[in-house]
Amino acid sequence: MIVKFLGHACFFLQNGGTSLIIDPFLDDNPQAVIRAGEIKTDWILVTHGHSDHLGDAIQIAKQNDAIIITVTEVARYCGVRGARTHAMYIGGKHNFGEFTVKMTVALHGSSIGTNPVEYLGQPCGFLIFIGGKTIYYAGDTGLFGDMELIGRLHPIDLAILPIGDNYTMGPEDALEAVKMLKPRYVIPTHYNTWDIITQDPDKFKSAVEDETGIQVAVLNPGDTFEL
Ligand code: NI
Ligand code: MN
Repeated sequence: MIVKFLGHACFFLQNGGTSLIIDPFLDDNPQAVIRAGEIKTDWILVTHGHSDHLGDAIQIAKQNDAIIITVTEVARYCGVRGARTHAMYIGGKHNFGEFTVKMTVALHGSSIGTNPVEYLGQPCGFLIFIGGKTIYYAGDTGLFGDMELIGRLHPIDLAILPIGDNYTMGPEDALEAVKMLKPRYVIPTHYNTWDIITQDPDKFKSAVEDETGIQVAVLNPGDTFEL
């Protein structure tokens, strides 16, 4: 299983012939190492409607005839714009054949546009069960105590957690998240894209590894992690 970081909060997972992209914000992403037009995938997972997550999902879906897996409101938004979608909601899981997705809660918002702001339901995170591994992609979220429950019910191989602060958990809260989730590995995300979310990921790595013994992989855009 290959986990590739594409910048900001966008990840590409590849397991054998199955690939999926999460929160494909690429063409307007200052960290992105690849254009949306170059993405080849059958599955697109979107946590919420904010432009740094929904991003280029509709274009990628259309160019690949791929399916967008997301919450109902975002699915409807994409569906009327010509994308194939699979709507789910928090707490639900679905087997897509080569992988299973369970939606988790995220403490955040979900909207698109400015005048007016269009609300797109609840934001979510994902548990992705693929290739015998469990990946928890928290999405944009603040810290919440039910992460302990998520970790207890689903032994996590890899947790992908935001550390940027301001819009999401900062590094201190992400350390608490790691303590509750007890994953085998952690990858920090959603930092250093813009000045307001500037963080030192190596400082986060040291703090987590010193306090928990859990290994943190700091990825630069374009880097891959083998799980
Ligand atoms: Ni957001
Ligand atoms: Mn975001």
